Amino acid sequence: MRSFSSLSVISLLGAATNVISQAPSGVPSFVTEYAPINYLYSGEVYFPSDLQNQLNNTTPEVNFTAVQGVPSPLTLDNLDQLNNLPPANGTNVYLTSNDNIETNPAWLIGVAPTNNKTDGVTSATIVVNDHGNGLVDAFYFYFYAFNYGGEYVGQILGDHVGDWEHNMVRFENGTPSAVWYSQHSNGEAFTYEALNKTNGRPINLVANGTHANYAIGGTHDHTIPDLNLPEGFVEDYTDFGAIWDPLLSAYYYSYNANTQEFSAYDDSTPVNWLNFTGQWGDDQYPNSDPRQKSLLGLAYKYTGGPTGPEDKQLNRTNICPDNGDACIVRTMLGP
Ligand SMILES: *[C@@H]1O[C@H](CO)[C@@H](O)[C@H](O)[C@H]1NC(C)=O
Ligand SMILES: *[C@@H]1O[C@H](CO)[C@@H](O)[C@H](O)[C@H]1NC(C)=O
Ligand SMILES: *[C@@H]1O[C@H](CO)[C@@H](O)[C@H](O)[C@H]1NC(C)=O
Ligand SMILES: *[C@@H]1O[C@H](CO)[C@@H](O)[C@H](O)[C@H]1NC(C)=O
Ligand SMILES: *[C@@H]1O[C@H](CO)[C@@H](O)[C@H](O)[C@H]1NC(C)=O
Ligand SMILES: *[C@@H]1O[C@H](CO)[C@@H](O)[C@H](O)[C@H]1NC(C)=O
Ligand SMILES: *[C@@H]1O[C@H](CO)[C@@H](O)[C@H](O)[C@H]1NC(C)=O
Ligand SMILES: *[C@@H]1O[C@H](CO)[C@@H](O)[C@H](O)[C@H]1NC(C)=O
Repeated sequence: MRSFSSLSVISLLGAATNVISQAPSGVPSFVTEYAPINYLYSGEVYFPSDLQNQLNNTTPEVNFTAVQGVPSPLTLDNLDQLNNLPPANGTNVYLTSNDNIETNPAWLIGVAPTNNKTDGVTSATIVVNDHGNGLVDAFYFYFYAFNYGGEYVGQILGDHVGDWEHNMVRFENGTPSAVWYSQHSNGEAFTYEALNKTNGRPINLVANGTHANYAIGGTHDHTIPDLNLPEGFVEDYTDFGAIWDPLLSAYYYSYNANTQEFSAYDDSTPVNWLNFTGQWGDDQYPNSDPRQKSLLGLAYKYTGGPTGPEDKQLNRTNICPDNGDACIVRTMLGP
């Protein structure tokens, strides 16, 4: 009797936690029901971060020179003005740290989740593209103030301010069919069926520092883009560390591919920032900068910051972005 009633309490709690989300009305229920559940690496140092906080701690620069006439304060409602503020033209703008990043300023660390949530900050962005005919793609974008690239033969390579990563879940008539995992310049796709799940939600393991996304735990080899290195030389580490549920700290939008317009599901959600076409971190430091180091001039300690969600092929034909590579949708789990 006693164990029976505690079991019912557990299942009630379980049901309650599964439906907790701050999604505004209008977001399709399957977009939250089958959202990825993220497991950060147990040794992670650079956590999910607040979008507005990135603006507060950076200055828009073009070619390492501050842009004049920037709105003050710079907010998620006016960031897109940088697309047309000469010499800033959007693509050449870098949101550049006000602090020397080698002094480890606290804002680069982001917010470690408590009870699955990055408290007090908005660190995820969910974008829904309804293609019509029952085909819906939901993008789950993850934002981190800093990317630690990893250490290779004693040299740290690929650090940068700002880090955008994502999963995309493809739905057919409300049923998830496949999931994309962004990893460095590309990623991996799996059928939904092949994936391991927590409470029906696809598991996403976020690699230490680089925040590349993987379907299984353990060590993952990858290669630096445009540089051939021996297999196993460049590794990502994942494990089942802290859970970060992106639904608990997200902005939600729909995306119209025909007009390339974003709409918030909720009037209180800022939307203009999604039109910003520049970079969310410092430009790659020149070789003359004493902070910069390289591995034989082929790979650098500090690389440039990334572009935001608008640059991640939001209207895909396949589950993979179209980058010339074959789109392999894996039916079995693997590294
Ligand atoms: C994880 O990243 C931190 C820095 O962000 C680094 O100090 C640590 O060595 C990394 N762990 C592994 C296993 O690479
Ligand atoms: C950013 O700065 C503004 C003042 O310019 C302040 O009101 C706001 O709280 C700050 N936001 C964050 C997330 O630090
Ligand atoms: C960037 O600035 C440097 C001088 O600081 C100048 O030599 C170079 O031409 C500039 N590059 C561009 C693309 O404007
Ligand atoms: C923006 O300016 C840069 C030079 O700073 C140039 O390379 C780029 O083509 C320009 N982009 C657009 C869209 O005008
Ligand atoms: C955290 O997420 C996991 C997986 O969805 C869930 O089982 C657990 O109940 C959640 N914890 C809290 C405190 O919400
Ligand atoms: C998937 O989950 C099952 C059940 O928890 C587990 O036994 C298996 O090791 C997991 N597979 C991978 C590749 O992580
Ligand atoms: C968006 O993607 C669909 C394929 O799902 C394609 O048919 C359509 O033409 C694309 N729309 C635009 C504006 O590129
Ligand atoms: C974003 O840009 C598009 C295309 O340039 C424009 O139609 C739209 O109004 C802009 N959206 C916002 C929220 O500024």
